[in-house]
Amino acid sequence: MRASLFLFAPLVGAAVLNHRDNIDQCPGYKAVNVNEQGLKFTADLTLNGDPCNAYGDDLQDLKLLVEYQDDDRLHVMIYDADEDVYQVPGSVVPRPSPNGSHKKGQPSLRFDYQPDPFSFRVLRDTEDGDEQVLFDTTDTNIIFESQYLNLRTWLPTDPNLYGLGEHTDSLRLPTTNYTRTLWSRDAYGVPSNTNLYGNHPVYFDHRGDAGTHGVFFLNSNGMDIKIDKTDDGRQFLEYNTLGGVFDFYFMAGPTPKDVAKQYSEVVGLPAMQAYWTFGFHNCRYGYQDVYDVAEAVYNYTHAHIPLETMWTDIDYMDARRVFTLDPERFPLEKMRELVNYLHRHHQHYIVMVDPAVSASDNGAFNRGKEADVFLHRPDSPDSIFEGAVWPGVTVYPDWFNPDTTQSWWNDEFKRFFNEHDGVNIDGLWIDMNEAANFCPYPCSNPEQYVKDNDLPPAPPSVRQPPRTIPGFPDDFQPKKNGKQRRSTGRKVGLSNRNLISPPYEIANAAGSLSNKTINTDIIHAGDGYAEYDTHNLYGTMMSSASREAMLLRQPAVRPLVITRSTFAGAGSHVGHWLGDNLSQWDKYRVSIAEMLAFASIFQIPMVGSDVCGFGGNTTEELCARWATLGAFYPFYRNHNELGSIGQEFYRWPVVADAARKIIDIRYRLLDYLYTAFHRQTQTGEPFLQPLFYLYPNDANTFSNEGQFFYGDSLLISPVLDQGSTSVDAYLPSDTFYDWTTGARITGKGKSIKLSNIALTDIPMHIRAGSVLPLRSKSAMTTTELRTRGFELVIAPNEDNFASGELYLDDGESLNPTGTSLIHFTFSENKLHLRGDFGYQGNVVVETITLLGQKNAGSRRDVGVDFDEKRQALSKAVNVQLSGPAVIEL
Ligand code: GLC
Repeated sequence: MRASLFLFAPLVGAAVLNHRDNIDQCPGYKAVNVNEQGLKFTADLTLNGDPCNAYGDDLQDLKLLVEYQDDDRLHVMIYDADEDVYQVPGSVVPRPSPNGSHKKGQPSLRFDYQPDPFSFRVLRDTEDGDEQVLFDTTDTNIIFESQYLNLRTWLPTDPNLYGLGEHTDSLRLPTTNYTRTLWSRDAYGVPSNTNLYGNHPVYFDHRGDAGTHGVFFLNSNGMDIKIDKTDDGRQFLEYNTLGGVFDFYFMAGPTPKDVAKQYSEVVGLPAMQAYWTFGFHNCRYGYQDVYDVAEAVYNYTHAHIPLETMWTDIDYMDARRVFTLDPERFPLEKMRELVNYLHRHHQHYIVMVDPAVSASDNGAFNRGKEADVFLHRPDSPDSIFEGAVWPGVTVYPDWFNPDTTQSWWNDEFKRFFNEHDGVNIDGLWIDMNEAANFCPYPCSNPEQYVKDNDLPPAPPSVRQPPRTIPGFPDDFQPKKNGKQRRSTGRKVGLSNRNLISPPYEIANAAGSLSNKTINTDIIHAGDGYAEYDTHNLYGTMMSSASREAMLLRQPAVRPLVITRSTFAGAGSHVGHWLGDNLSQWDKYRVSIAEMLAFASIFQIPMVGSDVCGFGGNTTEELCARWATLGAFYPFYRNHNELGSIGQEFYRWPVVADAARKIIDIRYRLLDYLYTAFHRQTQTGEPFLQPLFYLYPNDANTFSNEGQFFYGDSLLISPVLDQGSTSVDAYLPSDTFYDWTTGARITGKGKSIKLSNIALTDIPMHIRAGSVLPLRSKSAMTTTELRTRGFELVIAPNEDNFASGELYLDDGESLNPTGTSLIHFTFSENKLHLRGDFGYQGNVVVETITLLGQKNAGSRRDVGVDFDEKRQALSKAVNVQLSGPAVIEL
């Protein structure tokens, strides 16, 4: 279903027109009763004049809390004295401990304020003993109203700001006339300059030599964040929020990677994923029946393209109702055989689950109704709120319902995804959790809406003629015949608010707040939060509930859950795919910036976009290029829309070639990815990085969003344009080796033109100073891959030095017992292996390869081969990765 893309520009415009006039009259606050106690600072803030009531009622009495939470983190919170105003529940986004470490004993950040009118600044020491202003609300009055918060910080002109997602705008955000609206939305086509599926109110401000810092605004209300300049040219960033409190975390950096790590301490480290999840995935919306799915599996095998995981979209459901199977097209018995077949071949299976449950007579609905887990109507609390999604009239789980919704969800998973007599999935795909509702507000008669509108028709519930799928066993082939919900009544949040049409209107591309989603005046069960305040958390709450349900099925293994809607911190539960993109070149290009934002800023590193594009028809050229780029997404999945031409990689010879070639490379590098991904889950250090993360002082890198680092050692420079076979790749001042030719290249801080790049290729450069652990040979599945030995590729720097790392474990346990973390260092022609060697798998190093060599010299005698074309030495060895070792070259 295509979400409507109407922009309600005139309405938004009207609100904005008088905006400054409205808010310039606001009196601000005065700080009194200031109390400084070591690392904590509090004050009372009282309204400093007559209320302006610009977009709601000014609150008279506020409180200020400032905490130096650790050396590099400052927490600044401004909240109402009565604590009636909604705050993001700690159960959804747990707060970092205020008693963090104070290792240096000297905070890097300093809070500074003016009492009357109240304003504050956040400063950081510079190396030459000065102070740098990072955040500055001077000359503006903070506004804290019942339905509107405003706070503006001045910034240096044209700053390098990144983050504030989810969006498809440039990685480095525009600095003039730019509004980032945060409000979860079913955003078909992922248009730029609009709010999309998820919400991450955090930005990184990179100031080159002067360092990087981050600002996280922990607030889940709808908001417009404006980045602009005043008429007299002053640069600012301004929060315009529909509620909640000011809750800021400042992260001191000073490097981009430091900020990333500090942010992971605030919102949580990302979840480690199983080894197999990094294999190649194939999906499409519109597989007609289980035979269609099986046929695609067969075709991949036949084309010799490694398919690790097959997915099925809502097609498998009976009339698109969650937790059901179409008895004709996807009968249980055949589904079980399909899954068994995949498992026997060390492949995996994933299906989709949506939050909206069909309101027709079906098990999940009846049981949920009985347990009272669904959202209720605001105007008639005894009836369940209804919308319209794929199956027609639907109801929505209330994730705030204490205990009951989770137990009902767990129970549905246990029934439907039962290993013994259900669909035994390996991972989960959750969607439409913004939450999406096709029926526009006020959606008073969803039944009528469904009747009047063409929901994309479910495939006819009759099976195509049963057919034989080669490669599948005989038994797969066609046979000849063939409670306690109710809220405590407490409404968390201020009363007397207009929860449907607040006076300040954010620039939601779907129009009014409740349009095409759940009504914002719904009050949730449990503590009684309003949907108005918690809308942006719906997808993230479904994510953690689903992770828990998956863990109950298989408590010892890492669950893979891929979701569409996310909020800050979601990475500790789930991965994310970038939603309904289109088979267009601009979507291919922007996927790089989106992926970088999620992986290197928002701490959701398991991310990727629909390879070859979701909506519309792809082309052979686009699909081939996307197959090679997608091989560097952590989450690598081809997915396609109902009605579009087929785009499985085997459909065109050149795409099949591209896929075979790049999957070979991806798989040989899979342990390099796994190691770096694991490191991020332990320390927050991002493994996918924009160029400025590694070259923070090189201003040429700040706006680069066409290239990226895959780990610290590989620079990827995809061809970006249709019809092109070249790319201008920026090489920072450093030494690199061409992945294919082995040629040593001295980067000069300039772009070089890489030409003649075939559709099956993608330029890759190894950064000098790296040791890459590669599997010596690729494989058709990751299970097979794990039996391969290693080739250690050494790319020495100017000092003939290189280093790298390899992490090994059993690939799937939530808490693996034996793990290895091996550090490689190469110097004086010796490769040292040190570290922890707890993993007991039988893995050996088979080959050592040293790049950048002119000849073999005297080494030829000691079993060293020289590859003249690649300018590389290689030596066959047999070194068990079970303890420290030294290998001489
Ligand atoms: C949504 C999803 C898309 C899926 C479709 C049908 O549009 O974003 O990936 O194919 O629903 O379930």
